[in-house]
Amino acid sequence: MTHNSLTRRAALGVLSAAAAGAVSRRAGAIAPAAAPTAVVPYGAAINSPALTNDRAYREAAARYCQVIVPESEMKWDELRPSRGEYRFENADIIVAFAREHRLALRGHTFAWYGAMPEWVNTIASAAEAERELTSHIQTVVSRYRDVVSSWDVVNEPIPDKPSGVSDLRQFVWSRHLGENYIPIAFRAAAAVDPKAMLVLNEYDVEYIGARFQARRDALRHIVRRLLDQNVPLHAVGLQAHLYADRAIDRDGLQAFVSELKGWGLKILITEMDVIDDTLPGPEKERDAAVAAKADDFLEAVFAACRPEVILTWGLSDRYTWVPTYNKRADGRLNRPLPLDDAMKPKPLMAVIDRFRRRAV
Ligand code: XIL
Repeated sequence: MTHNSLTRRAALGVLSAAAAGAVSRRAGAIAPAAAPTAVVPYGAAINSPALTNDRAYREAAARYCQVIVPESEMKWDELRPSRGEYRFENADIIVAFAREHRLALRGHTFAWYGAMPEWVNTIASAAEAERELTSHIQTVVSRYRDVVSSWDVVNEPIPDKPSGVSDLRQFVWSRHLGENYIPIAFRAAAAVDPKAMLVLNEYDVEYIGARFQARRDALRHIVRRLLDQNVPLHAVGLQAHLYADRAIDRDGLQAFVSELKGWGLKILITEMDVIDDTLPGPEKERDAAVAAKADDFLEAVFAACRPEVILTWGLSDRYTWVPTYNKRADGRLNRPLPLDDAMKPKPLMAVIDRFRRRAV
């Protein structure tokens, strides 16, 4: 299976400049690239209202990112408020920004239980479900074929606490189509854009503990089944919403990533942030602990392979989803991201930068 690298449609200028170390200057990085091809692209989830209204954010996104992904704008509820209707305005704002700044663009996401419009609950049969899922994927992939180089086709297929390796999260597509919704979705995307990098994306696979081991086992099981059926799956995305108070299972994660790599898959870090509500208040201390957690995680991944990209879920602490579920009790702002709320790089950015340049 040949498919393009993530950076296919990103401006070659930007990416060869990245390879030559120019992005390290753009990003104000500390060290030049160790080797001409040794720079893993960095990117972030971007939100369209901030892009439209906040100049400092826009400038930071253009300065630091080589890749972007819409945080919500390509989810079902945004694209499909009602059954007969597609709304692309907000997604197009992000697409235009990527084009303007010659950034690579990832798409997110086609089969996820979250952010679904109400009307999908009126789908009444397997045939209807398959028709809706595939026609949505066909429409969206073909619209963005020239600019999106990689899609999170299936997102979070495993339940929070899987009861066994074949336990799948129940939601509209799995309810109607069983486990088949996964190959259906991947095949629909590949049929429209055979060159896109198609990704299966999951969270909570990096920690010590039985629940996380069970999640790795379940993910491994899905991946193996897809590969055995020749489904066009190219990569696994590790979301990496890292909890400051959970320990990374370095050996478990490294072994897991090595196995996926051995099966010919690429690895992406798709949504990294560090959830800091349990950390002490003082910012300096907190920023150091956040950076150390990311360091731990990246160490385990890089010990097994070099990821295609490192994306964080948001760029600046000014805009982060973390307080939605993990607001700090002391009233201080969460600081989960590489830039602070004044767009200044934090120790987390330095850690990311160091790994991006690490020779393998
Ligand atoms: C989150 C967004 O950040 C929020 O703004 C939105 O309200 C809900 O979704 N895993 C994912 C992302 O794959 O799509 C989620 O994004 C965060 C968890």
